[in-house]
Order: sequence, then structure tokens, then C-alpha cells
Amino acid sequence: MRLLFLSVLCLLLAPVAGAETAMRSGTISPGALWPDDKGVHINAHGGGILQHDGVYYWFGEHKIAGDAGNRAHVGVHVYSSRNLINWKDEGIALSVVDDPMSDIVRGSVIERPKVIYNAKTRKFVMWFHLELKGLGYKSARSAVAVADTVTGPYHYVNSFRPNAGIWPLNLSEADKDPARTVVARDFETGQMARDMTLFVDDDGAAYHLYASEENHTLHISRLTDDYMRPAGDYARMLPMGNDEAPAIFKHKGKYYLITSGLTGWAPNPAKSYVADHIFGPWTALGNPVRGTLEQQAITFGGQSTFVLPYGNGHIFMGDIWRPKDAIDGRYLWLPIEWDKDKPVIRWYDTWNLKTLETPQ
Ligand code: GAL
Repeated sequence: MRLLFLSVLCLLLAPVAGAETAMRSGTISPGALWPDDKGVHINAHGGGILQHDGVYYWFGEHKIAGDAGNRAHVGVHVYSSRNLINWKDEGIALSVVDDPMSDIVRGSVIERPKVIYNAKTRKFVMWFHLELKGLGYKSARSAVAVADTVTGPYHYVNSFRPNAGIWPLNLSEADKDPARTVVARDFETGQMARDMTLFVDDDGAAYHLYASEENHTLHISRLTDDYMRPAGDYARMLPMGNDEAPAIFKHKGKYYLITSGLTGWAPNPAKSYVADHIFGPWTALGNPVRGTLEQQAITFGGQSTFVLPYGNGHIFMGDIWRPKDAIDGRYLWLPIEWDKDKPVIRWYDTWNLKTLETPQ
């Protein structure tokens, strides 16, 4: 009986003790289960982080078990943390609905949500990749939701294909021929938009990066001052480069971009780029992964989703997808290191956030 009592006590305390140990040590274990404050593996896939008033908020896709989890049954989950290690479950920031006429009906696809704060409107603005229910990945739309408080609830606003009727800043006259390019084919209806991220520059201008043109070319599109719509100027980032999963960051005045190739849920080699101006031109820096050939070929089993500034450096965030049991997807967080002027990522079984607190 006493033994039973002790075992039950241990079981009850285990997640908390684990979390406290992690907090004390400040370590991250890429690919491991990552318990939240209730001891439940964090459910925020394809996510991104907003830092607001000294607190980090991690938004991501809430997945359910099995391959059904690849569609949205719950919505966008949000967690909060002051130390990036211990995460409090703040619930569902944006919920799917049961109205079959709604874009975000249960069973639609809601992917790669990102949230930014607009200081002028004092609104939290969420963008995500939306696929309408029952149409596979054909819709390729961007969707927007908005909230007055960071953890929500977020109110769904609308979805669209961005930049209808607008040419990219850097398209040649010859490529404005619909017989030649997808960007011209989609000129009237708006550009396809799948994998995406958001980025706020030092001057407060925000940008939406999305995989467009049948996933062959990423676009970067400036947002209006309220961050709710495309502002009308956008550029093709890496024409016909076959990049997706964009994650962008700024370091010493330059812009860096990490992407993946196009193999769905299966991992492939990551790619990296640098630019002096946010609209490019972008220069390829090669595969940022340093390690074994296997690690370079599959990016440690993961795919980029976000890069978070931290301390004097940056954290690379990726997803190790588990498409057959989506809820079991894991998080690949690694420090960005520098090999001369190139951002590089090495594997660590565990690593300490302190490594990013010293000058890079
Ligand atoms: C990946 C993409 C994911 C998801 C998946 C669906 O390439 O990065 O966000 O869309 O394809 O197969």
C-alpha cells in the first residue's frame, strides 16, 4: 500500500520535477517529448513565437492523433513562457468552427500560424496557411485572424490569394506572359500561398513570406500598416528555387533565410540565403546543416518553421513531422551558429540557452 502510494506520488510529481530540472538547467532537448505545465507534450506544430511584454508566446497547429491530425480539428494552440523552457498551456487561440460555410470549418487545413503585434492598432494579428475543407491542397490561401489580447480568442477575418492584380517588383516583361509563368497565370485571381511566415523589420514594417507558384517560388509581400492585408509591393525571392518552410531573421544588418525543399512531410536538405535588402536579391549560402551526410540529407529529421532571436543570437525552430500520428510531431530547436558569414546548425542532444547569451 505504502509502495503504491509512493509510486502514485512519484507519477504525479514527475512532470513537474522534470520541468523544474529543465528550468534550472535551461536546457533544450531537440526531438524529445516536451511537456507543458500539465505534463502534456506541447501541441503547437509549424509554429512561431511572439515576444510580448517580456513573455514568449508559442503559437502552432494543434494536431490530433493519427493521420486525421493533418487536418484542423481544434485550431491554433498557444503557450506562454518566460524562459523558453517551461511552457504554460494557454489554450486554443483560434478555434475551428462547425459552420460548414466557414473557411475554418473543422476538417479544413490550418497550417504554420504566426502572430505579430501591431503597436498602432494594439491588435494581435495572426496569419496562417488555409486549405478549404475537402479540396486537398488546391486552395493555397492565406488567412487572417485578429485579437485584442495575445492569447486570444482570435476572431477570424478572411482568406484570400494575395496580391491579385499586382505584379511582383522584380518580374521581367517577358515573364508577364501567362503562357510562360505561374505568377502571370495567377495575376488576376491572386497568388497561391502555402507554407508561410511573418517578419517584422526594425522599422515596424511587416512582411508575409509564402510558398507560391505551385510551390516553385517563394514570395515576400509587405503588409499594410495594420498588418491585416498585403500592401501591394511584393517580390519573388528565389525564382523556381523550389523552396518552402521559410524562416527569416536579421543579423548584423543582413537578412537570412532558411528553407527546405519540397518533399511534403518527409525531411530533406535545408537551404540558406542572405540578402542586404529584404526584397532581395538573395544569395544562396548552401545547406546550413553541419554534421554527418545523413544529418545534412534530412536536416536532423526536421523542417524549418521559425527563427527566434534570443540573447545575442538566434534559435532555429523546426518540426519533426509524424504524419501517421500527427500529435506525436516533435520540435527541433537548435542554436544558430556562425561559420564565418554563414549561419550553421549542428546537432546537440541537449543544449543550454546560455550558449546564445554570450556574444556571437
Ligand atoms: C509540407 C509543408 C507542411 C505541410 C505538408 C503537407 O511540405 O511544409 O506545412 O503543408 O507539406 O504535405
